[in-house]
Amino acid sequence: MATEAISRLASEPVKPEIGSRILSDKAALLSGELSTEIMELLEQRGILVFPQVHFTDEEQIAFTKTLGKFAPEMRGEEIYKITLDKTQTSTADYLKGTFFWHFDGFMNKVPIRASLLSSKVLDPEGRGQTQFANTYAAYEALPPERKAQLEGKTVVHALAATQLDHTPEPTWEEWQQWRAIGRAELPLVWNHESGRKSLVIGNSAYAVLGMEPLESKDLLVFLRDWATQERFTYSHQWQVGDAIIWDNTGSLHRATPYPADSVRMLHRTKLEGEEPIV
Ligand SMILES: [Fe+2]
Repeated sequence: MATEAISRLASEPVKPEIGSRILSDKAALLSGELSTEIMELLEQRGILVFPQVHFTDEEQIAFTKTLGKFAPEMRGEEIYKITLDKTQTSTADYLKGTFFWHFDGFMNKVPIRASLLSSKVLDPEGRGQTQFANTYAAYEALPPERKAQLEGKTVVHALAATQLDHTPEPTWEEWQQWRAIGRAELPLVWNHESGRKSLVIGNSAYAVLGMEPLESKDLLVFLRDWATQERFTYSHQWQVGDAIIWDNTGSLHRATPYPADSVRMLHRTKLEGEEPIV
């Protein structure tokens, strides 16, 4: 495959409509000199893969900080451990929602710009791949009459919707806990400052305002299925030391299922968002 060089950043496409592999070495990445090109390429390609870059936590934090405003976790931690092991994280139950297509931070006024994942421990049976879908490319490929149908539509997103995927018959107590976490009303199509548009969908999307409930579901199922078809998606089979950054403002992601006793461990850092969904 031909290597494309954007200035000094060395990369090659993964698939025509999503993903690039970054070939520049770690020292060049950590220098910060490639950060503008990395962020431009990220916006074009949805995700960037850094095969076998082997970031330590300190390097991952430092690299993330070269790309924009670093977003710490709610309790101020700089690294978030993605695992179902309850001794390692207090949010293991909520992570089960990540087995379904979503974007992160739908309740934030300005959703996070990007997330960076590093693989630390593999599931021994190769479960827990991370998959990505390019919602810019998916929007752009819609037929004009479908784009017209989406114009001006607003969608109710709720944490409860993400939990129903893995617990379809919650107790009243569970339901109340999920409902207390919140909801948001977001446009179905994000009109970015760049002039590009992306779909705002995923498992938090509960209903389209003003539509009959089943027709609302028809539209949300169609769009999720459309956006996650083969041409717009990339599935990453992790190797220890791989890192991936994704543009959370123009993509969906999910993990393929892995069991609660899996040793799979990823470390995540995040970049603050720069624009609200409008
Ligand atoms: Fe996520």
